[in-house]
Amino acid sequence: MRGLSTYKSLLSIVLLLHPGPARAIELDIDSLESIKAAAAQVASDLAAEFWDPTSFSGVPNAQYAWWQHGAILGAYVDYWAFTGDTTYNDNITIGWMKGVSSSLDLLPQEHAFDIGNDDQGFWSIMSMDAVERVFPETQIQKDMNAGFLEITQTVHNTQALRWDNSTCGGGLRWQIVTVKDGYKYKNTISNGLYFQQSARLARYTGNATYADAAEESYKWMRSVNLIQDDFRINDGAFIPDCKQITDKRWTYNYGTILAGCAAMYNFTTGEKREYWREQIDSVLNATLATFIDAETGALKEIQCQETDTCNMDQRSFKAYLARWMGYTAQVAPYTYSTIMPHLRKNAQLAAATCIGEPRGTACGQKWNIGAQWDGKHGLGEQINAMEVIQNIIPSVSPPGSGVGKIFNSNNGGTSKSNPGGMGKRMGWNWRAMVAKEYRKYMLKDHDIKAADRFGAAVLTLLTFALLGWMVFYVVSEDDDEKPGAAAEPAAEASVEK
Ligand SMILES: *[C@@H]1O[C@H](CO)[C@@H](O)[C@H](O)[C@H]1NC(C)=O
Ligand SMILES: *[C@@H]1O[C@H](CO)[C@@H](O)[C@H](O)[C@H]1NC(C)=O
Ligand SMILES: *[C@@H]1O[C@H](CO)[C@@H](O)[C@H](O)[C@H]1NC(C)=O
Ligand SMILES: *[C@@H]1O[C@H](CO)[C@@H](O)[C@H](O)[C@H]1NC(C)=O
Ligand SMILES: *[C@@H]1O[C@H](CO)[C@@H](O)[C@H](O)[C@H]1NC(C)=O
Repeated sequence: MRGLSTYKSLLSIVLLLHPGPARAIELDIDSLESIKAAAAQVASDLAAEFWDPTSFSGVPNAQYAWWQHGAILGAYVDYWAFTGDTTYNDNITIGWMKGVSSSLDLLPQEHAFDIGNDDQGFWSIMSMDAVERVFPETQIQKDMNAGFLEITQTVHNTQALRWDNSTCGGGLRWQIVTVKDGYKYKNTISNGLYFQQSARLARYTGNATYADAAEESYKWMRSVNLIQDDFRINDGAFIPDCKQITDKRWTYNYGTILAGCAAMYNFTTGEKREYWREQIDSVLNATLATFIDAETGALKEIQCQETDTCNMDQRSFKAYLARWMGYTAQVAPYTYSTIMPHLRKNAQLAAATCIGEPRGTACGQKWNIGAQWDGKHGLGEQINAMEVIQNIIPSVSPPGSGVGKIFNSNNGGTSKSNPGGMGKRMGWNWRAMVAKEYRKYMLKDHDIKAADRFGAAVLTLLTFALLGWMVFYVVSEDDDEKPGAAAEPAAEASVEK
């Protein structure tokens, strides 16, 4: 997998030395037409190479993960809302139907082993985008109860059940499958997406139960220093007490917290609104201080960008910060005058890098190096540029045009509510499923790259399976609800690495 990227870098250098017809993306950030044209170009390049809504992964290249399909769908929902261009709408629906699957909980069987709370959360945030933007729902979708609001509510309900007070005084674990290492880790993105999803559900539906969940998760993150008192936002912490913290800082963590605070600010009144306003100001200040390059004004993925060590997930993180900054500027409009100049600056910087191969319009990762392409070409670079460019469209849209508007259930939102939704609770036969995974990896020709995504836990499981051991395979939900299927904690420990 990493070998492939080395090859790709070499290829990029060769291509740099022999550029094709120079195309580049011209962007005049004061012209609506120019911004739309630039957004259309990056959207088309992303779709052409990195999105296949008809497949179960949604992302044709095995280096990318299923959650990024959810992220892509969210980007195209917003693209449609900002530009009015319906080119991708059919594919959004097709991709959505794959993700929602027959289980109706964004936990499709095809990915059941690898889905963590964050992966599911990325999809549910996408469906909340569709709810708030009033993205059209098809009759088939409605008939099978796969409307966007009810699915977001379902994810909320199933994640609320996974809230775990038994360690760290609360929080969601990263992983759902108990045999994975990440089951012992409570991370900011899982909890931050849950927080944001709850806050946006509260804002949209007006139901205070969601706001209570949002507040509880936010205060918990503050209490265990995932969000420190100085508003440094850390990556995550290990059970049992969350005292051992991984202190890496990622743009998307700051972004998800910022947008959640903004939705809460919008939902609440009085003293509570003041509280959320302070949280927004502090998180926003920390975000700008941490990720804006002082010299150029460019957003930087500080943890890995300069050292060229960002992995395929991390290369796309700036997209979500840009998206959620744009969202914040809409629902906490007092932040607009702070946020929008940064987005506009970065849209310009990002577009200037979009001179890369293969088509002369591929965007780079580094927005702080001027009108150059850094040789990075991928899903991450394309979605980053797409989000930052399309999120400045409100800044050039006529007042009152409603472009960028975030709706709620009282002012135009139409998606059907189902507050008790729990999905089909398919009761996947997890053990059989692992056996199936096992068979898949036993096939001689199976591309090992796909196996990387499942991580060491699967390989461990395979070893046990090869030895003829009984594989106890447990999902935390099953622990609580399906007595017969639960394994002893001892069994869990025995299959861990
Ligand atoms: C929709 O997805 C299909 C399958 O990947 C693809 O062939 C088609 O070009 C896509 N349409 C657009 C407009 O991108
Ligand atoms: C977890 O603990 C919090 C704070 O003590 C409490 O409010 C909440 O109800 C508990 N949740 C569950 C699911 O037990
Ligand atoms: C955020 O930064 C602004 C501008 O530097 C400053 O005026 C404000 O006091 C800061 N707010 C908080 C809560 O840190
Ligand atoms: C809440 O969001 C709406 C829609 O973006 C906006 O019009 C309204 O001003 C916001 N409320 C507050 C208090 O900022
Ligand atoms: C509010 O949300 C909660 C939690 O999902 C649900 O139990 C309750 O029925 C909802 N209330 C209304 C009025 O929709």
